[in-house]
Amino acid sequence: MPVMEEALKTSHRAIRSFVLRQGRITAAQTRAVAEYLPARQIDAHAEWRDPWNNQRPLMLEIGFGNGEHLAAIAAQRATWGCIGIEVHTPGVGSLLLQLVEAGTDNVRIVHDDAVTWLKTLPDALLRCIIIQFPDPWPKKRQQKRRLIQPDFAAVLCRLLQPGGELQLATDWADYAGQMLAVLNATPGLQNADPDNGYVFRPDNRILTRFERRGQRLGHAVYDLCYRRIP
Ligand SMILES: C[S@@+](CC[C@H](N)C(=O)[O-])C[C@H]1O[C@@H](n2cnc3c(N)ncnc32)[C@H](O)[C@@H]1O
Repeated sequence: MPVMEEALKTSHRAIRSFVLRQGRITAAQTRAVAEYLPARQIDAHAEWRDPWNNQRPLMLEIGFGNGEHLAAIAAQRATWGCIGIEVHTPGVGSLLLQLVEAGTDNVRIVHDDAVTWLKTLPDALLRCIIIQFPDPWPKKRQQKRRLIQPDFAAVLCRLLQPGGELQLATDWADYAGQMLAVLNATPGLQNADPDNGYVFRPDNRILTRFERRGQRLGHAVYDLCYRRIP
């Protein structure tokens, strides 16, 4: 993960939206990363090259976790190019296993830090960006680690094509309020809700592990949707 390693080296105080845990990785996930990632990987430190040569609308899921949603949406949208970005190696392995088992071939993976990588991409590249259940960083002193901040929102907006869609979901009420405030104030983004509030759950969203966890904790889920205006 060269971009991320570089970021970690250059500033030990860099504010990151993730913690790389020495989590357990299964033998199958390790094998999947070694065997299947090279052919499906987008190189985060090379110049952007569209794997489908501009032939497909592109969708990006940021922080795909174990990949269950990305695998499902890629199967639903077989004519799209679907890109997932995730720092957590077991999650990358898990997604690869699902893709191989289903024979899905329209997904490419960036195994790196989204915040660093997305800044390097050209404008108006993406038709859709999805961020579901980003790490909530609930303690006050940790909230600067949250992904949805004004600078990052401006990058997301720049990457969307006119009419392109940004979908988000969280089960943390306080973070939902922050998302709404930041994104409503981002020039170029228009809330899909006429009252600038939350929207109904989108049809494409399947129940993921993190949403199930939120349900167990009795949390409500907040969906947000924005469109890029010219
Ligand atoms: C709470 S999990 C949610 C996973 C998934 N979206 C779901 O709904 O099940 C958040 C994920 O975002 C990833 N993540 C956080 N910051 C990231 C970043 N800057 N770049 C890439 N992935 C990131 C974490 O590794 C983690 O897997």
